[in-house]
Amino acid sequence: MAKRYDEKAAGRFWTRRLKDTDPLSAVLTFDAPKSLNKAYDTWERQSLLSLLESSLTEEKALDLGCGTGRIALTLAARGAEVTALDVSEGMLAYVAKQARRQRVSSRVKCVPASSTAVPASDGTFDIVTCFGLLEHLPEAARRKTLLEAFRVLKRAGRLFAVINNTECVFLQRQYGLREQREDGYFVSLVGLEWLEAVAGRGRMRVWVRAANPFYALAHYYLYPHRELLFKSARDFERQCELAARCDLLGEFEKTFRDRVASHFLVEIRHGRSKKRR
Ligand SMILES: C[S@@+](CC[C@H](N)C(=O)[O-])C[C@H]1O[C@@H](n2cnc3c(N)ncnc32)[C@H](O)[C@@H]1O
Repeated sequence: MAKRYDEKAAGRFWTRRLKDTDPLSAVLTFDAPKSLNKAYDTWERQSLLSLLESSLTEEKALDLGCGTGRIALTLAARGAEVTALDVSEGMLAYVAKQARRQRVSSRVKCVPASSTAVPASDGTFDIVTCFGLLEHLPEAARRKTLLEAFRVLKRAGRLFAVINNTECVFLQRQYGLREQREDGYFVSLVGLEWLEAVAGRGRMRVWVRAANPFYALAHYYLYPHRELLFKSARDFERQCELAARCDLLGEFEKTFRDRVASHFLVEIRHGRSKKRR
């Protein structure tokens, strides 16, 4: 029989992870070089910002599974009033500290709660973000999280999520635990088909807004062969910076995007469940 998912153990795992490594590796790829995580972070945050207004002063945002606050603090820096929600006390303490450092603490509220039961009324938020969370939840919790995100989103609100590309030939090799590990960690591939099915039933519409094929190439192909392909560590770093810049250009031939990218940034809104990619 499958083991029951233990959310508290997951929270403790993420708190420990932040103690064990630098803030980017704690929430992105644990054992990757900093240049790779930086490239991913740049692609993800800049892609999100490019979809938003330059000032978010009137906006209420919710960041589900906020981790170290990469996204929550980015939104607060643009003026949004942000609720940063997480099950890890260590992560939330870190976000609160960073918010004070960056002088945005009056706009960042840290909430220790589960994404499966968001302590907010229906239709509270203009923006909801859910990055790097769904893949760390088993199916039932993942579904509840998405339904909670739909519930707390205003009618005209925008939900942004980052999901995996299940077709990505590289990612398939690495993801896919059937059960939560003893140390509390859980990961599985979460693809567009699953997301669209849940969104459709909730009368939500989904668009793919950004993809990261160049980052995926750098991570899964160039990185393992870097000694053969690059003269120096700095050369590889430059390649990572270039990958992020290329991904941000954004217009890809669909087959390349859909076979190679490891992640998609999707936007979800209330409306009829008409698919558009
Ligand atoms: C991979 S990290 C991603 C953090 C952040 N969203 C980012 O992209 O940098 C996953 C985060 O989700 C949090 N988390 C896991 N399960 C959760 C749940 N059920 N509710 C809220 N947060 C959760 C973890 O504590 C961790 O901080």
